Amino acid sequence: MAWLWGAGIVALAAAVLYWHIVVTEGAYLGQGIVTLLYDRYAHKYNRIKEFNPQEEHLFVAAPLVQALGADFEGVLVDVATGTGRLPRAMRAHPGFHGVVVGVDRSTRMLAEARDMLPDVPLVVASAMRLPFADGSAGAATCMEALEFFPRPVTGLRELARIIQTDGVLLATNRIGWETKLMPGKTFSSAKLTRLLTDLGFDAVKIRPWLDIYNQVWARKTPSRH
Ligand SMILES: C[S@@+](CC[C@H](N)C(=O)[O-])C[C@H]1O[C@@H](n2cnc3c(N)ncnc32)[C@H](O)[C@@H]1O
Repeated sequence: MAWLWGAGIVALAAAVLYWHIVVTEGAYLGQGIVTLLYDRYAHKYNRIKEFNPQEEHLFVAAPLVQALGADFEGVLVDVATGTGRLPRAMRAHPGFHGVVVGVDRSTRMLAEARDMLPDVPLVVASAMRLPFADGSAGAATCMEALEFFPRPVTGLRELARIIQTDGVLLATNRIGWETKLMPGKTFSSAKLTRLLTDLGFDAVKIRPWLDIYNQVWARKTPSRH
């Protein structure tokens, strides 16, 4: 009987560990653990994700260039840039004439980005406290990352803070059954719209993207800031 209890405890511990490390990627264990995991697997990230340049162009860079306008020459801050997926897509778009800056807490993820984007400014910093002045970015993006932040609402607040009046936000919000295993890390579309409105955005649009994310678009309302 004792062995049965032992096996049960081991199975439970393994399930909890799997949830913490694989499903939620350390999100409930603090920024340090999330960063440690991304540092550890940075060299495999691009291989695992298999980014398709055509899809990145069609579903990320092209709509962003359209939202920014052809004459955009400002700063686009990509928060939690990882290996530079969004900067790569933007730099490959002939219609993008702005400056893209990547921010991430994982130095190894940024090292991978630097290999492919040697002239893109990459900053090691936490999304919980971005090292940019209020209203200093014409646009800010945050792809596939909000759910790994210790406080996703603080992440959104920081994005809102650095975006200038009339600037553009593109973020992603995790959807799908796994969100049930990530309480407090994802939002319903209604809650997200309310939150972004409270943070001074309008024109909030939420569209399906990939299998497990929605893209969230919004523009900083001129009259409120
Ligand atoms: C799934 S990856 C997404 C990377 C990239 N945006 C993409 O779409 O490929 C999540 C990224 O968020 C970063 N990250 C997680 N928590 C962070 C935090 N608190 N501050 C800054 N970056 C963070 C990780 O280091 C990792 O590079």
